[in-house]
Amino acid sequence: MTIGIIGGSGLYDLDGLAGARWQEVDTPWGRPSDAILTGTLDGVAMAFLPRHGRGHVNAPSEIPYRANIDAMKRLGVTDLVSVSACGSFREEMAPGDIVLVDQFVDRTRDRPSSFFGTGCVAHVSLAHPTCARLRAVVADAAGATGLRVHAGGTYLAMEGPQFSTRAESVMYRDTLGADVIGMTNMPEARLAREAELCYAPVAMVTDYDCWHPGHEAVDVAAVIATLTANAAAARTLVAGLPGRLAGARGACGAGCDRALDHAIITAPEA
Ligand code: ADE
Repeated sequence: MTIGIIGGSGLYDLDGLAGARWQEVDTPWGRPSDAILTGTLDGVAMAFLPRHGRGHVNAPSEIPYRANIDAMKRLGVTDLVSVSACGSFREEMAPGDIVLVDQFVDRTRDRPSSFFGTGCVAHVSLAHPTCARLRAVVADAAGATGLRVHAGGTYLAMEGPQFSTRAESVMYRDTLGADVIGMTNMPEARLAREAELCYAPVAMVTDYDCWHPGHEAVDVAAVIATLTANAAAARTLVAGLPGRLAGARGACGAGCDRALDHAIITAPEA
């Protein structure tokens, strides 16, 4: 078992890893967003990648999602926890809360989103795009942060980099039924499934986007202020994963680790 962490805005490294070193990893899809920090935590192998690169140099549309997931796979990652900032469409999902996303509406349009095609075609199931077993472990670890945790939610992935218009925000909430919004969990979740990784997103609410009459429209300063206030909680959550996951690992009951078993449609001799 190796736990992978992809850190979002505000989470650019991990402390406390034994034998920590930043490793450059090359993939057929190019270089990942940054070198990957590897080491062990409570005896469990860990691999941490800052999604936007240290210094936050990759915009959401520029993130090399395929290289990131491929690099994690090459390092032996089995369980991938994705930490990111999000806006909220629900009064009760307030800034400072954690949402353990279980579903997605994908409105990205400018990102390669599969490892397959041209010579080898596969169709994996995304009916349940996150791993229920890993999410339960993350929920337990999140309980130790002191933040309010919502066990489930639908994440609207938008292209960005601009934030939504108010009309879009209301449509995402009322017509598409989204609970939170962000710019980075897709195609990450698709690719994690194709790579047969268990994947669980931790979405940290930083704002009410721009639908809420009682709150200012989101801006970067608000996002950073909330993330900075909650950085310690994100680290507490990650630190609680190895001990909890060690007891819960085995074949994934949800089948994430066997996602390709019946997905490749190209004839072997083709
Ligand atoms: N990340 C944090 N807040 C966001 C918002 N309101 N929209 C998109 N991405 C976000």
